[in-house]
Amino acid sequence: MQIPADVLAVLTDDRTIISGDRVAVPFELEPALYQRMNQMLKDIGGRWDGRKAVRAHVFPFPVEQFMRDCLAAGEWPSRFEQGWYPTPPKVVFDMLEHASIRVGHTVLEPSAGTGSLAKRAAEEMGIVDCVEIDPRRAHVLRDLGIARQVVQGDFLDLDPLALDEPYDRVLMNPPFSNAIAHVMHALAFMKDGGTLVAVMPESIAWHSDRAAVEFRKLIADNEGEIVKLPEDAFAPSGTNVRTVLLVLEADPDGSLPTHGWHQRQPLQLDLFAMA
Ligand SMILES: C[S@@+](CC[C@H](N)C(=O)[O-])C[C@H]1O[C@@H](n2cnc3c(N)ncnc32)[C@H](O)[C@@H]1O
Repeated sequence: MQIPADVLAVLTDDRTIISGDRVAVPFELEPALYQRMNQMLKDIGGRWDGRKAVRAHVFPFPVEQFMRDCLAAGEWPSRFEQGWYPTPPKVVFDMLEHASIRVGHTVLEPSAGTGSLAKRAAEEMGIVDCVEIDPRRAHVLRDLGIARQVVQGDFLDLDPLALDEPYDRVLMNPPFSNAIAHVMHALAFMKDGGTLVAVMPESIAWHSDRAAVEFRKLIADNEGEIVKLPEDAFAPSGTNVRTVLLVLEADPDGSLPTHGWHQRQPLQLDLFAMA
């Protein structure tokens, strides 16, 4: 949801205090404006605590980084807006541990939001490329100046074989509603020998539809790991969706459909034609 301009002005005012689990506006607002701000803060999970010592909206989670992301993007997440749930710092930390990015590694973030993952990958001295479908969030990413390239568009429309140099690492927190398709597509951008770390809905571990069953088989065949995250891992982003981390390392002899695997397919077809 877009943050109304007057509410944005209040929340970015120098006098407004956003810290820890609180948002405090220590100046008078006209009632209609207060209601609009209150509506937004309530939507994110805050509640007004009018006690003299508090006088702030208090959230059941550390809200500071999350609010900063919302204010930079000029919006707050709604599940109707392409599933923008910024990765909370604790989850980002775990993902970076699994990814072990080294200086100069190329890193793809194919659903980059406002860069929770991309920022940390750049701090690890990775060379980061981002894709983001939403123009406002893509704009924020460009302003951050952390990425070598920001592509604004639908990641699923990008052709991996148009890429000369596939990536060492893929870090992603794709829209939960289409997570398997995003991960499968992302593998095609990764090098043999690369590592993909993705946040996914927990349902991929038990769902019985064909895509999920085949996906689990691919993970098992390639010794991938599904790591359960705490039930409330995404509470700081306003959702109680249960999530897991998927960690896939692409063995060059494995069956993961990496960039190299895709390139080898036409060759195999040619050999078949000659037989
Ligand atoms: C769950 S959020 C994660 C954001 C970011 N990765 C993070 O961790 O903070 C998913 C993001 O993917 C974007 N997105 C959704 N569908 C997309 C698509 N087809 N191509 C590229 N980005 C997409 C959404 O706009 C949203 O910003």
